[in-house]
Amino acid sequence: MDLDWREKLKLLEQEIGSFEMSKLEDVERFRIKYLGSKNVLKDYFALMVQIPATERKEFGAVINSLKDLANELFTKSKDQFEESKRKSEPVADLSLPGLENGQGSRHPISIVMDRIVEIFSKIGFEVAEEREIEDDWHNFTALNTPDDHPARDMQDTFYLKDFAQHLLRTHTSSVQARYMTQNKPPFRILAPGRVYRNETVSARSHCQFHQVEGLYVDKGVSMADLKQTLLFFAKEMFGEDVKIRLRPSYFPFTEPSAEMDIYWGLKDETDHRITKGTGWLEILGCGMVDPAVLENCGIDPKVYSGFAFGMGIERQAMLLYKIPDIRYYFENDLRFLKQFKPIMS
Ligand code: PHE
Repeated sequence: MDLDWREKLKLLEQEIGSFEMSKLEDVERFRIKYLGSKNVLKDYFALMVQIPATERKEFGAVINSLKDLANELFTKSKDQFEESKRKSEPVADLSLPGLENGQGSRHPISIVMDRIVEIFSKIGFEVAEEREIEDDWHNFTALNTPDDHPARDMQDTFYLKDFAQHLLRTHTSSVQARYMTQNKPPFRILAPGRVYRNETVSARSHCQFHQVEGLYVDKGVSMADLKQTLLFFAKEMFGEDVKIRLRPSYFPFTEPSAEMDIYWGLKDETDHRITKGTGWLEILGCGMVDPAVLENCGIDPKVYSGFAFGMGIERQAMLLYKIPDIRYYFENDLRFLKQFKPIMS
């Protein structure tokens, strides 16, 4: 090298230090020149061979320090430009309307189910929830409904294709069998939940709906206890003046069996429609737990007796809220869902 290399690198250092970077493009030019793949420092490095061996280490160190300097200046300028760019951009348009913080509301079915649970909890019933995919035994066989029993036709069942003997429960009565096989009496339980039946969907019936099952097993439980319990419920739910009637009926798992209607009256058009013009609405099935069912579930029918009931939720909610069509419950239309306020006790 003609000039002393120390001298040369000093000049280079000055050149780097005084590089004018007033525009973003200058920063890019700087990067290409001193840090790019074909940068000036590399050229200098290539000159290493011409330097006396004893000075090479020092030479390398100086070149490296120049590289560090270039890096530092580049990062600093780049950051400055980015910062000022950020500052000059509008942060947000504060005059725009805010995002609506929409308040959710409860589904009428949930409201009515919660109210039912609340009423029965006053007289000692505890909630016991169970699975919706059941096996045949808990949904039918344990409940006195063997394979060839005609009562199986009463409820059109959805069976699971790949799991033989499994089905979508057709009633919450399956929880009776689950609970009785796993617990020792006395107990009073309430099982709210969804059930499924292969039915044609219309304004009055659906292939999915909700029930609340009640079960009370103890020594000396009688039909009178059942009736008083249901009367208490009806008054709490529909008001002191409500009338109830029990009609004899048939279920394979209760004996005797009954269905309960409430007299709601015919105050308006929805009442007419839902009660088919009679003012009476059937809301539940009930009866004394059949001794054979107790036995199937490992409870001695000579010691214990019990009552059970299963009520539909959709129809009660229709009456309370004047909902004309069962399909509304499952359509998720916000205009429908927004309307419901909790029922006050
Ligand atoms: N499981 C019956 C139904 O779905 C109702 C019921 C429950 C009847 C308990 C008697 C006892 O129709």
